[in-house]
Amino acid sequence: MDLKKYESKINRVTSLDKLNELEVRFLGRNGEINKLLSEIENIPDEQKKTYGQKINQLKSSMYRYIETKKKELQNKKSDVFFDKTLPGKIYPKGSLHIISNAIEEITKIFEKIGFIRVSYPEVDWEYGAFESLNMPSGHPARDDVETSFIESAPHPRFGKMVLTPHTSNGQNREMRRVGAPPIRMINISKCYRPNWDTTHTPMFHQFEGLCVDREITIANLKGTLDYFAEKYFGKGTKTRLRPHHFQFTEPSFEVDISCNVCGGKRMGCKVCKSGWLELGGTGMVHPNVLKEGGIDHKKYSGWAFGCGIERVIMMKYGLDDIRNYYSGDIRFLEQF
Ligand code: DAH
Repeated sequence: MDLKKYESKINRVTSLDKLNELEVRFLGRNGEINKLLSEIENIPDEQKKTYGQKINQLKSSMYRYIETKKKELQNKKSDVFFDKTLPGKIYPKGSLHIISNAIEEITKIFEKIGFIRVSYPEVDWEYGAFESLNMPSGHPARDDVETSFIESAPHPRFGKMVLTPHTSNGQNREMRRVGAPPIRMINISKCYRPNWDTTHTPMFHQFEGLCVDREITIANLKGTLDYFAEKYFGKGTKTRLRPHHFQFTEPSFEVDISCNVCGGKRMGCKVCKSGWLELGGTGMVHPNVLKEGGIDHKKYSGWAFGCGIERVIMMKYGLDDIRNYYSGDIRFLEQF
């Protein structure tokens, strides 16, 4: 009951932790003060009032005393010598991953000429990945694209679920979203194919261009590819189209860019061997694909292309192992 007794105990404390302990011991729910209060029932009635008042006074004095002591200890902490003139600590700064940087760069290049960046699902129905692209179920062209299926009940109209093997699944979705041309889409997303070697990882990225409007021709396609090649790979980079086959384009091509290392001269060039490097696939959108997207193929025409992001970075910097992107090796990633 003696405040002095408590005061001297509080006074001797030298750390905040110890002070907190004392606070609990004295003022806590099962603390000494509450114990004293509970003894009130053993006190004769006429003394109860004064007893209660005394305890409450003791409680608030103790409370104030502890608070003062707390401040004192807190201030003491900041008495530790602090040299304001020392230089600050420099923490290592993170940066965007090489793939994210490329996505940004490619997006900007296409946005400048009116393309809209979209990102369509990485998990889609077979319909989006194949049927809508003129590859009906059972068509052998599907076998060319190694595909991972998701175990799920098939949709009555859209088929099974797949990890999209390419960004071309965005074509039908974009046509349906926009409704009527003009369409200028750049779809950038993750894709999946079960391969793992120096030029393939099971997960990779593609960017897919789609342009649909009146009177769109191969000349527009070539002009756009030339523009992209110069912006992304550097001035003077040329493109060429080689006939190829894709189900969703007619005619179809593979696009090459001139090799930056030998400048297309090819003599002894280890990077290209032929003076050209393959960039991706392209062509004029097949009428069936337009029809499936609800677009009148007699009124409108369009072109599309698809390229690998990992691939264009390799071409730009002359890298030879795609797996480095995902190894998490800072020494590799820091270079970009
Ligand atoms: N989807 C093809 C692939 O992953 C690439 C491609 C070829 C996309 C031609 C297109 C295209 O849009 O027109 O191999």
